Amino acid sequence: MTPDHQEPEPSQASDAPEAPGAPVALGRYRQIYEGVALPVVMIDAESWRVVAVNQAAVTQYGYPRDEFVGLSALNLRPPEGKAEARKVLVEMPHGFWKTTAVKHCRKDGSLLMVDVWSQDTVVDGRAVRVATISDVTERVQLQHELQQAQKMEAVGRLAGGIAHDFNNALTSIIANAELLQGSFGDDPAWSTELADILDYAERAAELTRQLLAFSRRRVVSVEVVPLNDVVLRAEALVRPAIAEHIAIESRMAVGTWSVRVDPTQLEQAIFNLTMNAQDAMPGGGTLIVATRNVSLGRDAITDRSTIPAGDYAELTICDTGIGMDDLTRDRVFEPFFTTKPPPEGTGLGLSMAYGIVRQCGGYITVDSAVGQGATFRILLPRVGRSAPLTHLHGD
Ligand SMILES: Nc1ncnc2c1ncn2[C@@H]1O[C@H](COP(=O)(O)OP(=O)(O)OP(=O)(O)O)[C@@H](O)[C@H]1O
Ligand SMILES: [Mg+2]
Repeated sequence: MTPDHQEPEPSQASDAPEAPGAPVALGRYRQIYEGVALPVVMIDAESWRVVAVNQAAVTQYGYPRDEFVGLSALNLRPPEGKAEARKVLVEMPHGFWKTTAVKHCRKDGSLLMVDVWSQDTVVDGRAVRVATISDVTERVQLQHELQQAQKMEAVGRLAGGIAHDFNNALTSIIANAELLQGSFGDDPAWSTELADILDYAERAAELTRQLLAFSRRRVVSVEVVPLNDVVLRAEALVRPAIAEHIAIESRMAVGTWSVRVDPTQLEQAIFNLTMNAQDAMPGGGTLIVATRNVSLGRDAITDRSTIPAGDYAELTICDTGIGMDDLTRDRVFEPFFTTKPPPEGTGLGLSMAYGIVRQCGGYITVDSAVGQGATFRILLPRVGRSAPLTHLHGD
């Protein structure tokens, strides 16, 4: 953010007696103020201009000190948070108060979540508000992650339970319809209806299979294979299904690590992701399928799960399509969440991909913004060469 974007002063500041952004003299308290480990920003109570900052605040927000002092406090909020900040500053009773999980922004525009303790006081003869600020970005992300994980767990249990019972019912329906078809299938009075019953029952069975994959209740046949092998097979499936106006770029790193997966299921997940990418590019675009090995030096926090540090074979499926807003992005892995009109979307494609990836101990994340395309990343834990040998010591 440059000074050009600085907020105009609030109207009530016009008759403030002090020079609104003039620094305050902290005298012998300066050393204590500077030494506080948390960022402390002092603002003029009338004009909301910053009148003093400590080193921690300079470091956190990235404004050089001489630019920071004189800046409107509203500049620490992203554009969408300014109206609310103005309201808070006007309505807040005088004294001491705390606000939690507020979105702030640094000079370079990057965002952080903060708790703010604010205290009204008089310094150097001027009414000021002293805000002590704590960066809680990680805590907020972890809370969000926990909520998402709990939601997916609950939905998974529900969907799995229903799908399981429903599947049993369908097995009986299909078996009985097949018996009837054996007896009356050639009778023109019944043949169409019987074929319809079987057709719809099979479709319903396919839905329950997808739900079972999401809730990780499906029986899998696991193999240890290099990630590239599975991706290449999936690509062979995908290419004929992708329309001509979409270019496919394949960027496969040589020698991707081996992973423990059910190859058929993973192929299915990749297929679903590429079909979504195609749907998101009605006017054409590029679909990029990339693989590589990544070593995470430390745990990575995503919106859904913490990915533990370690070695992973990574697959990214990226498109240049319409992208999605934050609300959609938060819900894409939920079963039955779809933005496509019926009967186009069931909303099961990504929930199935999620279940498949989680079942083999992997992680799936999404990065997207409206008009910016979407990138789905799948990280699968590397399987060491010694892993398959463990079977020898089994029974
Ligand atoms: N690559 C993408 N770009 C933009 N939006 C996407 C992308 N992938 C998924 N979405 C959004 O996520 C929603 C859910 O996707 P999901 O694959 O689970 O279901 P669907 O594609 O709507 O239906 P189905 O997969 O059953 O045909 C989509 O409706 C769409 O809004
Ligand atoms: Mg889909």
